[in-house]
Amino acid sequence: MLTLKINPHTKVDTSKKGTLSLSSTIRHGGRELVLKDPSRMILTCLKKLQQEGSEEQALSDLALKQGDLTSFYYFLNLLKRNNLLSYALLHKNKPLLTLHPLSSRLQIEERSLAPTQKIQLSKFAFLRPSAKNLILETPLAPVECEIHSQEILAVLHQLTNPKSLKEIRSPIPRSLVEKLCTLLLEAKILVPAKSEEKDPLALQWEFHDLLFHTRTRLGRHNNPYGGLFPFTKEISPLPACKPPMSKRRTPLFKPDIEKLKREDRSFTHVIEERRSKREHGNNPLTLKQLGEFLFRTARMKEHLIYPKGETHGAELSRRPYPGGGAVYELELYLVIYKCQGLEKGIYHYHPREHTLYQLEAEQKNIDALLRDSMHSSGKKDFPQVFFIITSRFQRMSWKYRSMAYAATLKTTGVLLQTMYLVATAMDLAPCAIGGGDSDLFSEAIGTSYLEETSVGEFMLGSREQ
Ligand SMILES: Cc1cc2nc3c(=O)[nH]c(=O)nc-3n(C[C@H](O)[C@H](O)[C@H](O)COP(=O)(O)O)c2cc1C
Repeated sequence: MLTLKINPHTKVDTSKKGTLSLSSTIRHGGRELVLKDPSRMILTCLKKLQQEGSEEQALSDLALKQGDLTSFYYFLNLLKRNNLLSYALLHKNKPLLTLHPLSSRLQIEERSLAPTQKIQLSKFAFLRPSAKNLILETPLAPVECEIHSQEILAVLHQLTNPKSLKEIRSPIPRSLVEKLCTLLLEAKILVPAKSEEKDPLALQWEFHDLLFHTRTRLGRHNNPYGGLFPFTKEISPLPACKPPMSKRRTPLFKPDIEKLKREDRSFTHVIEERRSKREHGNNPLTLKQLGEFLFRTARMKEHLIYPKGETHGAELSRRPYPGGGAVYELELYLVIYKCQGLEKGIYHYHPREHTLYQLEAEQKNIDALLRDSMHSSGKKDFPQVFFIITSRFQRMSWKYRSMAYAATLKTTGVLLQTMYLVATAMDLAPCAIGGGDSDLFSEAIGTSYLEETSVGEFMLGSREQ
């Protein structure tokens, strides 16, 4: 009852005489199948699979007639194992749903379903538009399910709650609804009722986390991946540094790095003594210390501007912490509560100039940001300095596909560690903060949420004596 078709990710090549080549255009993990001297029967089956598609039974009847059943099944299994087929469910010769596996790790078996067994939509399933149709997907399996008919949507809607086959209402014949459900069970779009609530692994994964994990790694999708520079033709890259954000400029102290290299605490001392310290001393941090801290963690050491053609015209840089692709999309903002030599307010750090620019910000927003950090750290008062790390997201998404935001979070992690280590070497009190209100921050500094907002937070102060 399932109609098999050569899937849209397969390229068929018969141009080399006596050779049939089927190659998967799945970007990662795609396979190639080469058959020498394929029989006429194989070529006829292939033509059917490429054009209108065919049920397995009809193809095997044809092969039987030509006395070549063994080679037919050998060929069909190769197609299945190499992920070169799609599986369509037809009603009155019109497709209802087509399932496209995206990896040979998903093998579709035709099973049956007891009429009383309850099933439901997986909490991980989701629907999104594609070029022509709606696509049903899940991070649980490498598959795309193309929906061609509203009747399928009506069945899916009923399966938001557990239902048995007997309970599903549909104008589609019962046998087709069963086939649909078994197919979607294979694709892990449907699951046995309540199974995810009982499974400690499914229970602890959240929808957005698992989707983010699978779509930012290879294996379960066919999306463009890596440093592909997809927008070079239409969009100019953002510069390495934001232009000064105000006229209120504070130059910062620059430490003698060569002297520090000779005289600073040893690497082992710093890494072994690093701790999160949430309480701050009575004498607030000084502007000089803040200058040294920023110089050692986040200054631009080198501005890399390559001839056009190399790096596609993107400006890169070197900084004390490693950064994905040397793109350095992260910006540092300082919410100052108490710092000797600097008034309360929000400041942007300019990494090339090594200066601070004070921003126009409402007092209520400054206090709300400080309050958030206090609550997240269980402190009773505001931190002396609260760092907010933002990302200029398009610096990364202009270059990377699928992994831009994941790389930003990794770079945020290494910046946080660098801040911890420098604070430890300087005998200051550092503590990372795990989350914050990105809407509040973009409102506070007047950026668009999709362009730049917070991705990380960090508190700093003087040490308690
Ligand atoms: C990414 C990250 C997020 C953190 N979030 C918080 C937080 O929100 N509040 C807090 O008090 N500590 C936070 N911390 C500090 C951890 O609680 C701390 O690193 C952990 O307890 C280990 O202690 P140590 O840093 O003293 O070795 C965070 C640390 C990291 C790396």
